[in-house]
Amino acid sequence: MIGISFFLGASFGRDEGKWAEYLGETKPRLAEAAGWVRENAAGDKSGFGWYNLPDQNTEELKKISAWLSGYDAIIHVGIGGSALGNLMLHQALLPMYLNERAEHPHFYLADNPDPEKAAAIWERVKGSRVALVGVSKSGATAETMSQFLWFRSKMKDSGVNPDENTLVITDPKGGVFRSFAGTVKCRSLEIPPSVGGRYSVLSNCGLISAAALGADTTKLLAGAASMRKFIETAGSDANPALTLAAIHRFHELNGRPMAVLMPYSNRMETFSEWFAQLWGESVGKDGKGTTPVRALGAIDQHSQVQLYTAGPDDKLYTLINIASRREEITLPQVDEESLVSLAYLSGQRLGEMLGYEAQSTAAALVKAGRPVVWIELDKLNEESLGALIFFYEYVTAVTGHLMGINPFDQPGVEQGKHYTYGLMGRGEYSGDAKEAGEYFGLIKKSEIKA
Ligand code: PA5
Repeated sequence: MIGISFFLGASFGRDEGKWAEYLGETKPRLAEAAGWVRENAAGDKSGFGWYNLPDQNTEELKKISAWLSGYDAIIHVGIGGSALGNLMLHQALLPMYLNERAEHPHFYLADNPDPEKAAAIWERVKGSRVALVGVSKSGATAETMSQFLWFRSKMKDSGVNPDENTLVITDPKGGVFRSFAGTVKCRSLEIPPSVGGRYSVLSNCGLISAAALGADTTKLLAGAASMRKFIETAGSDANPALTLAAIHRFHELNGRPMAVLMPYSNRMETFSEWFAQLWGESVGKDGKGTTPVRALGAIDQHSQVQLYTAGPDDKLYTLINIASRREEITLPQVDEESLVSLAYLSGQRLGEMLGYEAQSTAAALVKAGRPVVWIELDKLNEESLGALIFFYEYVTAVTGHLMGINPFDQPGVEQGKHYTYGLMGRGEYSGDAKEAGEYFGLIKKSEIKA
């Protein structure tokens, strides 16, 4: 048993009749989509490599993560799929406030190329034993390369041999990182060519820092493997991954262009961030797709739920609850007369309260006729997280397939990269620089200065 339950009883909102009809029509497409994933993954076709990651050999990962765990600080340079999965794994599995603990290594992510952040990271780590980890599937992304160069120069300036203290994780053949590793003989790990950036969390890319900081990556992969087996063997009527893909497509077709993911757990806040990239880049093509919306329970009950229940009926809601949390807190008896109205809280448990809040939001949404998917984890641990990651990768790929788009490419991301290369003066992208200048000029031609 994986320990994740999917409750889909109110997933159609006001459109129960239409949903039954859509599901009936779509069943053959779902069966075809399941075969499409399985066969392409068996052939290790481009984009489908995530399906095979549970079976990867992790010997090299273990060796290098053991080396990395001996440092005081890890600077991880990477962005998008080369960063979000790392944050998600750390937040879900490792002790909270990791960098405030005495134990090392501490972890610093240099993703956004904001000079204030990069300088602040160096200020924190200088003088300690620092490992520089550069992660880029393409081995070219400007945000990553620029910061890699800068941290490398800081290491050099401080008298450290950067090559001995650098790890790059990248494509086995292409890109600057691969040729750099070949030349300077620094440590390196591979991201399989068939695994796309945003599907790479269970590859060396996402696993490395989690492993170095103490997460059990064998269990993560075992969780993913269990979910794969479950999906492969569940009958089509009891396959929540295929059904959820159909639910997403159904709501897109029925005037709900947004998909809210709202876990009730601080440990899962960055799961939503990770999902937002996976979903947005995979399904946003050809004028199609739904916009992922990150929310966190119970905080967004005091921010967004008013809109969710009484605003337009234009979203599908997925709430994630955790039945048994790693910590539970029992509230004390009221000890003061003026607090007596709070006596209903005495002896209650905080984690249970968070669960009741999730139920309250779900109930209010259903009352308002909004479509709700409820996912319940018995526990959040390596196995269930690995399973949920695999589940969502599968749902994303199949939803894209139902939409008739390619869920594994990202032409919009590439265009942004090319404009940036051009604007930064990279010769072969001068046409992109010109085009970016022309479009940006349209914005700049009307100015109102205050
Ligand atoms: O999913 C994708 O391919 C992208 O969003 C990438 O993850 C992101 O652009 C970073 O690319 P790279 O890892 O090649 O530096």
